[in-house]
Amino acid sequence: MTTTTAALDVQALRKQYPSLSNKVEGKSLVYLDSACTALKPKVVADRLHDFYTNWGGCGGKRSTHLLSQQVEAWFQEARVETARFLNAEKADEIVFTGSTTDGINLVARAFPFSNERNEVIVTDVEHNSVVLPFKQAEAEGRIKLRFCPITDAGPDLNALASIISKKTALIAMTRSSNVLGGSFSVHPVSQLARAHGAKLLLDDAQYLSSHREDVQASNADFVAFSSHKLGGPFGVGVLYGKEHLLNGLGHYRVGGGTVKDYEVGDTQDDVTPIYLDAPMRFEAGVQNFAGAAAFGDALKFLQTLDPDAVRSHVSDLVGYAIRKLQAFDEIEILGDPKTLKEGSLVSFYPKHKEFSAKDFNLYLNHELKDKFIAIRIGDHCAHILHKRMKIKETLRLSFFAYNTKEEIDVFGAALESYIHEACR
Ligand SMILES: Cc1ncc(COP(=O)(O)O)c(C=O)c1O
Repeated sequence: MTTTTAALDVQALRKQYPSLSNKVEGKSLVYLDSACTALKPKVVADRLHDFYTNWGGCGGKRSTHLLSQQVEAWFQEARVETARFLNAEKADEIVFTGSTTDGINLVARAFPFSNERNEVIVTDVEHNSVVLPFKQAEAEGRIKLRFCPITDAGPDLNALASIISKKTALIAMTRSSNVLGGSFSVHPVSQLARAHGAKLLLDDAQYLSSHREDVQASNADFVAFSSHKLGGPFGVGVLYGKEHLLNGLGHYRVGGGTVKDYEVGDTQDDVTPIYLDAPMRFEAGVQNFAGAAAFGDALKFLQTLDPDAVRSHVSDLVGYAIRKLQAFDEIEILGDPKTLKEGSLVSFYPKHKEFSAKDFNLYLNHELKDKFIAIRIGDHCAHILHKRMKIKETLRLSFFAYNTKEEIDVFGAALESYIHEACR
């Protein structure tokens, strides 16, 4: 497949996502939950089908027959495609993981914390996949975890400046909150990190569906994200890291494919592994070869869309949804509409005591005549943020390039009728 950019034709794009035209319980799907996972384009489903039907071999330089060579070539092509997608300097800066969660666990487990530098700063909005690996490192006595409050534009820089010190090893933060939406500016944080000799880990799980990351421009040391949120398969993730930093990490998972050799001495127990360099030293065991190949296709597919057209379309959808939601006194939108438009989602919570998020979700699924609307309700794996905001749960509409204003109209009409029945 060649990579060309073209203006966004949403109707043509929708045809590439078979599940958009599927019926759920006999009704048309209105999918407003792409922040949970993006629907998969046909090209990805076809690739997985082809892989398992016609190939199915094992890459990883284990077997050397032609089948295996082809599978390994696809795996490495996907790495090169990912490096291009992020504008990484080298393909070797791309480690295939299982998910964003897996990549962050890798950093939390393998980062060379020292007695002098053993503090990690996260923000209050972070997903559990960012907080918990470092909470675990703290429980094991390896680090001290600090929490930075946030503003609508991102980490509170005054607070961050007062927390950061020469003891800070790492700042780990999302570029786009899965609850508050918007997108956070990285430069002031990366400057503060640099000034204190700390490293910066970005959680781009929610950012890349409608933004492009340029790791050289953002000067991030590590970036983690998941294939499934971009239309690729589940079970594939990426950890980008600057080459020297990846090679300076300790171990995470080790096993087949991570060692170059062993030194075997004269005594029975004198056995020392010699590990490969990154990325191989982190990719232990048989890899998700089919998933990585299909992920490479998902990235190529995404890059056939003009990134500015995608951003502007998604931003319009967010703005349109905000205007719809603002018409209801029974709910409150989270965040500042101006900054929300920099993201791909909008969340709100009920103000009226008769508005039940759970009932509303059932209503969207079962009570509408010919539509099935998928949104997400709950704490979105961001318990700390919800506790800080003193809000039990939020309702989230999230968008991908394939969504339309008509779908938001359908949601708006459903919200209106639910509020009419439940609250008035
Ligand atoms: C902001 C953010 N970070 C991290 C994750 C974790 O992603 P995954 O479950 O694919 O590892 C999510 C998932 O929803 C997310 O929204």
